[in-house]
Amino acid sequence: MRILVTGGAGFIGSNFIRYFLHRYPETTLINVDLLTYAGNLANTEGLTAYAGYRFLHADINDRKKLEPYFAAGLDAVINFAAESHVDRSIDAPLVFAETNINGTLNLLTLAQCHGVKRFLQISTDEVYGALGPEDCFTEESPLAPNSPYAASKAGADLLAMAFFKTYGLPVLITRCSNNYGPYQFPEKLIPLAIINAIRDEPIPLYGDGLQVRDWIHVDDHCRALERVLLNGRPGTVYNIGARCERTNLEVVRTILELLGKPEHLIRFVADRPGHDRRYGVAVGKIRRGLGWEAQIDFQAGLAQTVDWYLKQQKWWEAILSGEYNNYYQRNYGYRLAEKEDKDR
Ligand code: NAD
Ligand code: TYD
Repeated sequence: MRILVTGGAGFIGSNFIRYFLHRYPETTLINVDLLTYAGNLANTEGLTAYAGYRFLHADINDRKKLEPYFAAGLDAVINFAAESHVDRSIDAPLVFAETNINGTLNLLTLAQCHGVKRFLQISTDEVYGALGPEDCFTEESPLAPNSPYAASKAGADLLAMAFFKTYGLPVLITRCSNNYGPYQFPEKLIPLAIINAIRDEPIPLYGDGLQVRDWIHVDDHCRALERVLLNGRPGTVYNIGARCERTNLEVVRTILELLGKPEHLIRFVADRPGHDRRYGVAVGKIRRGLGWEAQIDFQAGLAQTVDWYLKQQKWWEAILSGEYNNYYQRNYGYRLAEKEDKDR
């Protein structure tokens, strides 16, 4: 199998590559990543031990750099690459359109030109918007994104499905709920709360802290993606979630308990503009169709994650100090200067 994975130096992409190469070590796997502030080669440590693993430093918008890899023939493309943080999308939305929409469109056109056999678009439950206290998102729920991030992901989903309908490109779309686990960049709630708690620093909770997310361990997500990639029906959307709804306050309290830290570290701060109150995902389709179900209990998964961050202090200290990658700040976001590209 020859597959091209984008965004494989990020959180979920790196976990997926590690999982997949462990299961299918004969795979030729090209990891295309721009190494933005969220991409980190430390996340891919050890993967070079696999003979078929290659890293390509490139933007998913860079047609010239990517074309030879598509022309050589690909069994699958898995598109993880994205700007992924809602708060950043509120502050600086343009790059979200550039990567999440234009970048995906570029990959879709390349895939269509070169007859890629499966195109797996990694999407999010956030494309459905926000829920009240009841009900869950199904694959039939209307797209009603609220943040620029969610809107850019919904745009990518619509383009991907248009390529299935118009050109017959075998597109599959997964919409997963909030992930947690090793290698998550410390701007997201769980790693931020763990690291701040370890350092005895305040943990900001937006608004009343009673917003609800459906938390899934990244390993469960990776197992679901394997099923969809290998057995999913083209032209289909699959929701992925763990039916594990928790308020943000509950999550942070659990982290503090696990670390033996006091509750007074919690600081209620101004709410996020347009903050979605609740996400909850119905997963009957992937359970019935592909026999997948989340297996990792939240308390156990969170304890394992806390333990990982305790042991991997060097990893996150390097990120916090900007040692691995600080050009995001220097270049106002995302473009890697030609010079840096050559130096790297
Ligand atoms: P992340 O921010 O940790 O990683 C994103 C990766 O994409 C980074 O390695 C970054 O360098 C790379 N990238 C960004 N722009 C690029 C570009 N133009 N060209 C090439 N590479 C680029 O994100 P994540 O949390 O691992 O999320 C991965 C995917 O899963 C995203 O598409 C996201 O929308 C989706 N998703 C995430 C979650 C979650 O809870 N984190 C939930 C559901 C879906
Ligand atoms: P986040 O991890 O940014 O994921 P998403 O916005 O994609 O759901 O946030 C998860 C929840 O935690 C969300 O309701 C916002 C909230 N949150 C805080 O209360 N404080 C924080 O510092 C962060 C980063 C998030």
